[in-house]
Amino acid sequence: MPSAAASEPLTSNRRNRMHQSGQRRPRSDISPIEKYLKKFGYGFLVLLICGFLALGLATILWPFLENYLFQSGFLSTTTTSSSQPVLIFTSSTSIPSPTSTERPSATPSITRRPFTASSPRSTNSPTIFPCNTRIVGFYDGSSDRDVTDSQLRKLTHIVFGYIKMNSMGSLYFASYQEKEKLDNIVKRARFLKPALKVMVSIGGAIDYQHIPVVAADEGKRKYLARSIKEFIKHHKVDGVDIFWKWPTKNENREAFVLMLQEIRNVLDEISNPENPYLLTAVTPNYDWPWYRDTLDLNGVIGLVDFVNVWSVRYYGFFDSKWGAYTGPPSPLYSGLGEYENSNVDWTMKLYTCTSKQPGKVNMGVPFFGAYWKNVEGPIDAKGEMWFTAKPRTEGKFDFDGDYISWRDMEPFGWNLSSTKWHQETKTPYIWDPEKNEFLGFENPRSLKEKAQYTIDKNLGGITIWSLEMDDDGDTLLDSINTKDFCSNRRTNTINYSCDNK
Ligand SMILES: *[C@@H]1O[C@H](CO)[C@@H](O)[C@H](O)[C@H]1NC(C)=O
Ligand SMILES: *[C@@H]1O[C@H](CO)[C@@H](O)[C@H](O)[C@H]1NC(C)=O
Repeated sequence: MPSAAASEPLTSNRRNRMHQSGQRRPRSDISPIEKYLKKFGYGFLVLLICGFLALGLATILWPFLENYLFQSGFLSTTTTSSSQPVLIFTSSTSIPSPTSTERPSATPSITRRPFTASSPRSTNSPTIFPCNTRIVGFYDGSSDRDVTDSQLRKLTHIVFGYIKMNSMGSLYFASYQEKEKLDNIVKRARFLKPALKVMVSIGGAIDYQHIPVVAADEGKRKYLARSIKEFIKHHKVDGVDIFWKWPTKNENREAFVLMLQEIRNVLDEISNPENPYLLTAVTPNYDWPWYRDTLDLNGVIGLVDFVNVWSVRYYGFFDSKWGAYTGPPSPLYSGLGEYENSNVDWTMKLYTCTSKQPGKVNMGVPFFGAYWKNVEGPIDAKGEMWFTAKPRTEGKFDFDGDYISWRDMEPFGWNLSSTKWHQETKTPYIWDPEKNEFLGFENPRSLKEKAQYTIDKNLGGITIWSLEMDDDGDTLLDSINTKDFCSNRRTNTINYSCDNK
């Protein structure tokens, strides 16, 4: 009997029985089985402690192991019910820099055709925040710099960029570190500010190539939508943004809307009414004529909660018939020659007048500048804003210049005390005639102008590209996050004269 009892698992019931029976007997009269159990109890304790130590060690070592597996392409964390992998983690090949060349149209004479609205599906999800206006901050996950708690507190939406997508519609991270960063942001956001929405952007200024492929195919669209659903569940984010730069072909026009519809369906399916999942899209400046045929703006706006308009990078070191044309990355007004519509006001007016929904339009603002070297004298009497830059090699569209983050300007030798203000574009610039260098950028003054503009025009808010470019003191973010900006009550009233385009 003792041996049989000892081989039984030690349940609490059995322990109790032993304990009770012990009380009934005098202390000295301890049976061998009780002795055994006493020993077994200590053994159990030792095992428990060992267990905890092992668990602790495993927790410490697992990330290294996971990282290793990840790097060697072994790891795929989530699978769908259909047994196809959704999150395929592959190692990153290149870190994107914000320096891709963009080419504005060189054919300004194309006539503007009125926009044909496709039947928009109203989504009207409530987007009410402590700050009634959206302050959306994109963050580049490939950056060395992390999003700070102080930045998170000042936003209504943080958008983690960029989640990659393969040609089948599967989502994956550029690197294991980026996955860790996103999970960390979600954790901190929930703790710091429950109202803050955490989103991820799929595609991006560099990795949008597979979007047209997926959008064109019904099976792939459905697969993408499922991947998004799994991603949301797995990483606990509040929604997704689609950054397709840009739909430039006629066949893209319908495909984009169908893709968004597929995603919207899935999001609606898993949303709860008080806290619906968000769908947004990054959309172009829209001043380049060909988008009118290839982007169904109303179709898109009808399906998303809001659009993040890429009203940044109007000017850069790309070619034009004059050579590179200097200017601010994001002029509020004005423009010259072929660039006469290259300004934020024109873009915002077009979006508002086309959609009739200013509240769904977020103005993009850059936390970076653009500089040119080999700059030749001003071509316009109106001021020192418009210059041309000489190509590095005669006859080639190869200009010496780059985009530069706000936080890098001083460390890289730009003397911000010599900043001048350009009244017409409402932006700052630095012109160094000795070195023949020009920098157009944003500073607190120009961002305040843009924030005021969004209030005046009842726009939905501001979208920042991107948070890691600000300085450690949040100088630029603070210039947007003013009391005025947030306390203002918004209506959906259009404050443009849409008739006289
Ligand atoms: C920066 O610019 C200001 C104003 O133009 C000038 O007084 C100052 O000497 C400049 N500083 C440097 C380091 O060049
Ligand atoms: C409309 O916009 C202009 C600036 O363009 C502004 O001065 C005016 O106050 C705005 N009107 C309303 C009603 O917000």
